[in-house]
Parts: sequence; structure tokens; C-alpha cells
Amino acid sequence: MKETELKKLLDSMTLEEKLCQMTQCEPLKADEEKSLGVNPDIKTKGLTEKQYYSVGSMIVYVPKAADLRRVQKEHLKRDPHKIPLLFMSDVLHGKETVFPIPLAMGCSFNTELLKECYEVSAEECAASGVHTVFAPAIDLSRDARWGRSMESFGEDPCLSSRMAGAAVTGFQGNGDTIDENHVSCCAKHYLGYGAVTGGRDYNCAEISDNELYNYYLPSFKAAVENNVSMIMTSFNTLNGVPMTVNEHANRQILRGDLGFDGVLISDYNSLGECENHGISSSSEKLAELGIKATLDIEMMNTLILNNGEKSVKGGAVDEEYIDSAVLRILRLKNKLGLFEDPFKGLSEEKEESFFNNLKSREKSREIAEQSAVLLKNSGVLPLKSFEKIWLCGPLSVSEEVGGEWAFSMQKPYNVSLFEGISNIIGKENIILSKTDKIYRIEDIDSKEKEDIPYPESADEFENCKTCIIAVGEHMGDTGEASSKTNIRLTKNQAELVKKVKQSGKKTVVIVFSGRPLDISDIEPYSDALIYAWYLGCESGNALARLIFGLSNPSGKLAMSLPRCVGQCPIYYNHLNTGRPYNKTNRFSCGYTDCENEPLFSFGFGLSYTEFRYEDISVNKNEIKIKVKNTGDFDGFETIQLYVSLKDTSVSQPVKALKDFKKIFLKSGEEKEITFKINKDMFSFYKNKVKTLEKCSAVLFLRAQSGEFIKISDFEVCL
Ligand code: GLC
Repeated sequence: MKETELKKLLDSMTLEEKLCQMTQCEPLKADEEKSLGVNPDIKTKGLTEKQYYSVGSMIVYVPKAADLRRVQKEHLKRDPHKIPLLFMSDVLHGKETVFPIPLAMGCSFNTELLKECYEVSAEECAASGVHTVFAPAIDLSRDARWGRSMESFGEDPCLSSRMAGAAVTGFQGNGDTIDENHVSCCAKHYLGYGAVTGGRDYNCAEISDNELYNYYLPSFKAAVENNVSMIMTSFNTLNGVPMTVNEHANRQILRGDLGFDGVLISDYNSLGECENHGISSSSEKLAELGIKATLDIEMMNTLILNNGEKSVKGGAVDEEYIDSAVLRILRLKNKLGLFEDPFKGLSEEKEESFFNNLKSREKSREIAEQSAVLLKNSGVLPLKSFEKIWLCGPLSVSEEVGGEWAFSMQKPYNVSLFEGISNIIGKENIILSKTDKIYRIEDIDSKEKEDIPYPESADEFENCKTCIIAVGEHMGDTGEASSKTNIRLTKNQAELVKKVKQSGKKTVVIVFSGRPLDISDIEPYSDALIYAWYLGCESGNALARLIFGLSNPSGKLAMSLPRCVGQCPIYYNHLNTGRPYNKTNRFSCGYTDCENEPLFSFGFGLSYTEFRYEDISVNKNEIKIKVKNTGDFDGFETIQLYVSLKDTSVSQPVKALKDFKKIFLKSGEEKEITFKINKDMFSFYKNKVKTLEKCSAVLFLRAQSGEFIKISDFEVCL
């Protein structure tokens, strides 16, 4: 439809119909719909029947093509203007094919592969009739207490921004329109949600402009630069103002500074919750504030629908605000081609073909192998596939390893670690301890008392040299509303690792989690340590291939692992302070009972092979590096370029990631890579303005050991 036709359609709508477009509810189930016909006055979802058949969009938790076809058909029959519905769904890391959690995929440092994964998700969603996914979640996340860290791409603005751009392109494709194999996506949660005080979900966030512009905003800037169609406001207040009614953050920063002209949607009743925030007990006032903050769609409440007319008629809100909002919604529907074909992309048979699709599962396994992080390996891994192993721990047989926010898959089937290892060495070569399922946090008592059974000693047990121990947190204890003050493993899991080590076995510890856990009490008893996060539907196969050397670990931490919860929030790109930590000087910026550095830092991850950086040359335009695989294994290496600035008017982080490249090298192979040097690498936001100052810079690479290798001093001139 042409823009002129969209405007004509808008002009033909009543104010109530426009307000319906700004309202999102859940669809009626088939039987509810039937009863609606019988009892037309049934209030559905707080709407009249007429309003229900005029809403602009619906949120669908487990989208099925046949259901969405039914709902769309009925809607088009009843909507006076035949405006197609938008169906939106939470598909954060996969629909039918579940990929690793985003925090794990961030550790892959492979933006191209992430894009390919989201292309798979987009096709699966489109076939089921979904038009918009509530993803990617691009909140910068530094606090392991916050359960939603799992949804983010971690603590660094450069990595988060690159991942955000890749995710948006994977979901939406590249063009101005969105074809039948792609969906529009909704970057979330704008803004500062990862900085909630105390790591407590839904809490307030107090963020200075310096932090906001240099750390929390860049990923949203990247999403907007990649034409993200929609952005979701977050539950938190930002410096005292709830984001859903934050006119400054939404109108001045997002739409003004960043130039976002897409659809702004609230989070689940986050407009209504502004009453709890103490903004107003008047629904009319909240509706007015939401509209003025350029909110376009209200998710799961009807404040705007029920009060918008009064606000306009009473002069509190200019109808122009409503028209702009509705036009943005109509433009999105137009970008999706829904006016020409409201069922575009929807296909029951295609949907069926995605159930347990082997090619898609292969893609999930590929990124899973690149997302797990090898943190320690004292010559244990890879194991020989002919040796018998002992497998124990509460997550050894669990299929609950796909990761939270994956409820849209209709055939829950994740490969457990036990199954994955069996696929390589055969069940007969595994001594499996009787292992009970891991309990959720509310069972903490039983979990603490619960002794994870230890295998009865048997001959073959005595003979096997190596024990793989699968520990971690329950998947259900991560994600939304999952903040924790205790991020340690349960005592019985820590004791199990210690006991196995003291039995003389080699210990290969696999940690499943949705956040950085405090693993300081098991690290000393781990001969090898793989941080597995939750790796999606192919978890077990990916981990088994890494353990037995059919694949070479290449993940690098996207979020630092703290030594203890007392260090949270912790991140590598901190300021130097006036008294940098000095172990020998109490009067320095540190703790009396713990060192400052995390147990494992952002950007760290080992491989089975060694990579050497040689012939490093730097001129004012570029850096060239020869990278050689000097070990016996083929593998991926992520070359990370960091910058440290000095002599600046605003204190800068001790180091900041500015670029990275992931390359594959066969054993003995060498490649030259080039990083372009540009002003952006030395710029920073000062008083909300991107600033370049004459200053001195130092360029670093990151060695495999985690050490920073200084490669050049660099005078930054204007
Ligand atoms: C939830 C989440 C948001 C999600 C939305 C719809 O509360 O905060 O991430 O997309 O509601 O389920």
C-alpha cells in the first residue's frame, strides 16, 4: 500500500478505532470465540466485542499456524476497515529449533553465525503466522544477580552492539520490506534494565548520562541503525521516571538523537504499573503520559483505549499524537506486506517441516559448540573416545538444558549431556550415577540436604580414570523474575565435585547456567571446566563433541564470572580510579576480603590448540596481524582489539573492546587479518555528545591466556 493510501485509511478511522490499533491483547481460544458468538456481550480481555475485533495486535505465546489463521480470518471479517492483525511472540533464542541462550551466543563472538540462527527462527516464526518477535534483548548486563542476564549479550557495549545488529538483520532481512521468510523484531528492554539496583528485577535504575550514553545506549543505537522495527520499553524507572512514560528518553533520545521512527511498545502492562511507581492513580493521566512519551502500542491493558478519547476531547492530548502512533503501526503492517496478503508466509505444511528439522538442529549445534567456554584444562581434554567414563551430577541426564524463554517450541526435545555422550562412545561406556533431577530454588532446603547419590563402587568404576560432573542452576531459576542473592552452586554439588576429585579421578566439570555463577569452590577441584550456559536443543551433542575433541572450544566469556556475589556488578571495562587496586596497599580501591579481579574475565576462553600473533604492524589507518595456529587442532580464534585512552577530560575505562574478528585456522595454518583504525575507536560520549579529544591511546590484543598484549601507543589527533 502506498503512504498516501495509509494516510487515507487513517483518516477514515474513528478515534476509538485508532485507539484499538494501539491496544494489544491475547487472542480468544476457539471455544471462547464460539461462546462469544452466542453471548456477544462477553467482555473479552477487558474489551467490548467491537473493540476486540478492532485491536491492532495480539500477543501469542505458543503460535500455531492454524490458530493464527483462524484468528486473522475472523478478525478481517469483523474489522470494519479490514486492517490485518499483527501477531507478536516471545522467540528469544529459537522457536521450533531452540538455540543457546543469547548470553551463550554472545560468547561465540560469531555475529554471522548468530544472524544465520535468527534467520532460521524467522522462517519458523513466519510459517506459524508470527509477524513480530519480542527479541533481541539487548540490555547491557553486568550483574549476575539479575536473572535476565541470560537474555542479554553480556557486559560489553561493542559486543552487544554487533550482536544486536546481527540479530535484527537475521530476523528482518536487509531490505525496507520484510519478506515471507522474515519477521519484524522488537529490541528490548529500553532502557537501562540491566542496571536495576541490587540486580533485583523490576527495580529502579539510576544511571548517569556518562554511563547511559557510553554503555547502555550503544546496543539500541546499533539496532536502530539496522532498521529495527520495534522497541519495547522496560519495567524500570530510569533516574526516577518509569521508562514507559519517559518522554525524555523516548522522544528526545530514542526518536530524536537515535532517529528511531518505528513502533514503541510497552512491556506487559508496564503502563498500568506506573500507578505502582507512584506516577498517578488516574488511568486517564497515565494514558496521557504514555501517549506523550510516544508509546504506540499498550501491551495487555486498555488505559489508552479507555481514556484516549477523553484525553483528546479534554485537550490534554493532541489527536496528532494518536495519528502518528497509528501511522507507525500501519507502516509496520505495510512493511510486512499484510495489506496485500494478511496470511503472507503463514503455512501449516512449512510449520510442520520445522518440527525437529535436522538441518536447523545442525545450526543450533554449530553455534552451541562455539558458545560453550573452556575455562580450564589441565591436560585432560579432549577425552579419548574409547575410554570408559563416569558421568554424574544433577544435570547429567536432564533435558532441561535448552534455556528459558523457549516455550514456543511445540515438541520440547533437548539432547541431554548423557544422550550426547552416548551418541559418541555408546551407553555401555558410561557409568552413570543414579542422579536425581536438579531442584528449583524454592526447594533450596531439599537441595541443600539432598545428597546427590554417589555411585556404588564397582569394578568398572575403579577402572575409569575420568569423571564428567554436570552441575549448575535449574533452568527455571533463570530469566525473568529470577534475581538471586546467592549465585553459588548448592553445597551438595560443590561437595560432589570435591569428593570425586579426592577419589583420584580426573574431573571434567560442566556448568549449566543462565548467568555467571560463583564457581570459586569447585574450580580448584576441576581438572577441566566448561561453562555450558544453556545451549539449546543440541546441548548434549555439542558438549559431547567438545569433550571428545570432535570440535574445538572457541567461546569467550561475554560476561565476567565473579569470585563471589559481593563483587557484583563486576565488569572488565571499569575506570582506573585515583587509587587503583594494590594488594600491598590497603588504602587502594579494593576489598579487604577479596581481590578485585573476577574469577574469569570477559573475553577469556581457551582452546585445544595454540594461536600465535606475529608480524603486528600499526599505521594511522590500520593494524595488520598474522595469526598462526601452532597447535595440533584445527579451530576458531577470536582476535580482540582493545583501546585504553589517557589524557582525556573524562575518565575512561582501563580497557575497552573496539573490534573483534573470528577466524578459522587449520593446524599449522596462518592468516593475516586487518583492523581498520577509525576515529570512532577513540571517541566517547561526553555530556551526551560523541566526542573526540586529542589524547594518547594504547592498543592491545588479547592473548589466549587472557593477558593483554600491548601492540602500540597511538597519539590521537583531531
Ligand atoms: C514480559 C517480558 C518481556 C516479554 C513480554 C511479553 O514481562 O518483560 O521481555 O517480551 O513480557 O511476554
